[in-house]
Amino acid sequence: MLNLFVVCLFVILGNCFAAIDIAQYVPVCDRTSPDVNDCLIDAVKKGIVAMKSGIKDLGVPAIDPYHQKELKMEYTNNQAMSDTYVEGVTESTVKDVRLRAEDDSFHMEIDMFSPQIFCKGRFSGSGSYNVLRVNASGDFNTTMSDLTYTWKLDGTPEQIDGETYVRITSFYMRPDVGNMVTHMTNENPDSKELTDLAIRITNENWRLLYREMLPFAQSNWNKIGTRIANKIFLKVPYNQLFPVKS
Ligand SMILES: *[C@@H]1O[C@H](CO)[C@@H](O)[C@H](O)[C@H]1NC(C)=O
Ligand SMILES: *[C@@H]1O[C@H](CO)[C@@H](O)[C@H](O)[C@H]1NC(C)=O
Repeated sequence: MLNLFVVCLFVILGNCFAAIDIAQYVPVCDRTSPDVNDCLIDAVKKGIVAMKSGIKDLGVPAIDPYHQKELKMEYTNNQAMSDTYVEGVTESTVKDVRLRAEDDSFHMEIDMFSPQIFCKGRFSGSGSYNVLRVNASGDFNTTMSDLTYTWKLDGTPEQIDGETYVRITSFYMRPDVGNMVTHMTNENPDSKELTDLAIRITNENWRLLYREMLPFAQSNWNKIGTRIANKIFLKVPYNQLFPVKS
């Protein structure tokens, strides 16, 4: 009985205090090596796949699909989306990675291509397009294809308990989208006949709408990207994540 207890305690403490070995998830790249970019392309590729269903040890949430409970959009009027799911990021190709890792600053750019990103969720609220006002709620889904984008991560090295970590302070991207198709259902009987028109207008003018929504989407991506990146960057010391071997 006591033995069992000791074993249990050992397992619990062991889990709590085990240092996180990042190399178990992704290749670790020597930041001074001439091949650092090729190594990082492979590391980012494997990192994205490792994060697909989340990484428990690091508290990283599942990223494909990525679920977001609430998403407020202060766009023209009151619009809110909830229970959104975004799928497809793990089918992406990592084209290139550029790293500028200094002792006092950190910057990384990751060039990505996604053949398809699919989003779905609930929406509610009112929107207007010129003279057309629609008050609706229902389900929506959007399929985007051929996305080209660069993740730009900026961070600052920081001392925590005598170790240097990088705190990611900003996550930026501005995807170029090849095509976008949206479907919606409307549960509000008063505006049902307007829904088809609204969907047609949305699909015919998606480039314009996308450009207008981009700042709101970017502020949301900045929050999500920074939070997820820091799950890794603030748990694995700088010199383990990007060691200087030579
Ligand atoms: C939209 O419709 C809902 C009910 O379907 C209603 O409660 C809300 O007040 C309406 N909003 C506007 C801005 O008309
Ligand atoms: C997207 O929404 C439409 C309309 O609700 C629906 O018919 C279609 O099956 C949905 N697509 C997917 C892939 O879920």
